[in-house]
This record gives sequence, C-alpha cells and structure tokens, in this order.
Amino acid sequence: MMTPDEIRKRVERLGPWFHCIDLGGGLSTKTQSAIGEPVEHPRPTWEKVKACLPEEFDGKSLLDVGCNAGFYAVELKRRGAGRVLGVDSQRNLVRQAIFVRDVLGLEIEYRRMSVYDLDPRELGQFDVTLALGLVYHCKHLVLALERLFAVTRELLVLETAIYPPERSPGSFTYEVGGLRPLLHPLAYVENPGEAKEAIYNWFLPGVEALTALLRNVGFDEVEVFPATQSDRAIFACRKREPYPDSRSISYLAASIQIEDGPARCRPEEVLTFRVRAENTGLARWLRGDDTGVQEGAVHLVAHVFAAGGEEPLFWYHAGAYLPGDIAPGESATVEIAMRAPAEPGRYRLEFDMVSEHLAWFEDLGSEVVRHELTVE
Ligand SMILES: C[S@@+](CC[C@H](N)C(=O)[O-])C[C@H]1O[C@@H](n2cnc3c(N)ncnc32)[C@H](O)[C@@H]1O
Repeated sequence: MMTPDEIRKRVERLGPWFHCIDLGGGLSTKTQSAIGEPVEHPRPTWEKVKACLPEEFDGKSLLDVGCNAGFYAVELKRRGAGRVLGVDSQRNLVRQAIFVRDVLGLEIEYRRMSVYDLDPRELGQFDVTLALGLVYHCKHLVLALERLFAVTRELLVLETAIYPPERSPGSFTYEVGGLRPLLHPLAYVENPGEAKEAIYNWFLPGVEALTALLRNVGFDEVEVFPATQSDRAIFACRKREPYPDSRSISYLAASIQIEDGPARCRPEEVLTFRVRAENTGLARWLRGDDTGVQEGAVHLVAHVFAAGGEEPLFWYHAGAYLPGDIAPGESATVEIAMRAPAEPGRYRLEFDMVSEHLAWFEDLGSEVVRHELTVE
C-alpha cells in the first residue's frame, strides 16, 4: 500500500501522462496537457466510445490495444469486464498502466506488445477489442487491421482521426486492371525518414476507405459514428463467427504430414496415402458437400512431377475431401487415393491444400509435402 506522498512521487517520475486517471484521495495522474490534448483526456472520447459498448460487461473479456496508461481498461473493468488485457508498444506507458492498476487494486493484465504481434493462438480471443487512437500510428495499416480482426470474437471498437472530410474528393469509380472498382481516399502523411512509428502518423483513412478495409479484413458489419462530418470517427465492427471460413484466404495456413503411403509401386496401381493436415491458420476450413466443387471448400490435393522436374506432369492428379469442417488448431487425417503413372520411372508427389477456386495454400506461404515414388 503506497502513501499519498509515494503515489505523488511515482506519478511525477512516470510522467508525462496522456491519460488523466483519478487515483482516489484527491490524486490524479495529471494536471496539465502533455501534447495539446485536453487535460481531462480521454474522458470526452470515452463519453462517445461507451455508446458503442454493452452497458454491462457481464464478465465479457476485453482487449485494449494501444492502451496507454489504461484509462479504458480501468473503466471497463469497473463495468464488469472479466479478463482485461491492455497492450501498448511503449514501455513507459505499460509502466504507467501497471502503476495505475496497482494503486487502484484492479485485476488487469498488461503487456508490452505491438498490434502486429497479436495472435489468438497465444492470447486467446476477446469478446470486445478497443483500438482507440491507434490506427493512424500504424505504418502497416492492413496488417494491423487483420491482427485486430483475428483476436476479436464479437466486437471491435475503433476510434481514429480521419481524412479531413472537407478536403476529400469522396469515393469514385476508376479503371484499374481492366475493372472499374470503387476507389476510396486514404491520405498518406509524409514523415521525416527517422519517424518513430508509435508516435508519428502514417495514414488518415477516409470513412469509406476504412469501412471497406474493415469489411475486407473480415468484419460482417461496420457501423460508423458520428453520422455527421467530423475529423474523427468511431467504427463499431461486428463478427458473426469468431473465425472466418476458408473463403477468407488471408487467414489460411496448413501443416501437412504424410503418415503412410508407398514409395514403390507398379504402373497404374491404385495407391492410397494417409495424410495429416493441421489447420495452422485463423480460418475455419469448410468441407463443402459432395455435389460439386464449391468455392472455398478445402481439399487435399496431390500433384505429380518427374523426380527433379520443375513442371508438373499431372496437376491436381488426385484430391480428397476433409472428414468435416476443421477449426483453427484442429487436425484431420485424410486418405487420398490415386493411380500411379503408366510409365516406369522416378516421380515426386507434392501434397498441397487448396481453397477451391480461390488459392493454393503453397501460394499463401504454407509448405507443400514432397514424396518420392518409383514406378517399377
Ligand atoms: C494516441 S495514443 C491513444 C491512447 C489511447 N488508446 C487513447 O485513446 O487515449 C496511441 C497509443 O497507441 C500506442 N501505439 C502506437 N503504435 C502501436 C503499436 N504498433 N502497437 C501497440 N500500440 C501502439 C502508443 O504507444 C499510444 O499509447
């Protein structure tokens, strides 16, 4: 238990403070503006953000990305949030947040971590994620949005400065690569070469651009507040399912192993391989049904090459269905049958996965598995 005097001294040592947080006993983290923000920041923003959040958290988990000194984490813990994790890329801000938490005696986890390193396999998913005043600091904007999508189970609330609406040309169609897609303005903020990512601004997206980006990374619904023009906006982004399905190709990855299969055979013999495929990505693999090849159904496929050859002799020589839908982290054992080549010789089989009509897993960065086969 710290005395008021000790608290005052630590507040001073940990400053400057961006978040004004009431520490009780008439003490607060700051009494003056650090970089031009209102002294009471972020209370005015909180008043707007909380309109997008459930009234009672009822044990829902919360992740605050770019949590700074933890104002929002504290408020939402007090609103009944269960697990609360705050992450920020700057060490001193994480120290501030831990100090505030300890003074207030709340159960909140903090980690120094970048938005780019958020991984649900390590952290789990969170019912609600906050990304407030964060995305204009992200040089890798789309990657940041993909990571926010992956760790969110239900709702992402994103608050940001936007492309000055009075300067924006608005969305328009334009010919690109033989198509006429809609283009949405997104401003690049020119920085000095030595710009520090955590504090410089990189992109100011227009409302339409950010809405399209959020939908493209996978959110099912994106609602924007306020409806009237302003230089900042809040995006409430909802997911119907915790993980997207295998039509979202950015989230596909597999690890494949051959468990059993012959190394030698006779010409045209029917061979069976038993292959284990682990879903190491962040999308649920759809099995599809047996009535045809549906877009986004995931199949195990074998290609045939001459040993040492680069060009396939038989592309998609054999394919196999999964036993059912496979969630991220799950594995399936698949039997794949194929006829051996008619000509004796040495061959190489390559096993890959495909999201039908959309992408080969190898092209998305997963490894194929190679198997030597001699036809005698
Ligand atoms: C403008 S402040 C907003 C703080 C707080 N979310 C709020 O709304 O008051 C931006 C915060 O994002 C953090 N930040 C910047 N880049 C980050 C990154 N790549 N990953 C995690 N946090 C980051 C900064 O350290 C800072 O705390």
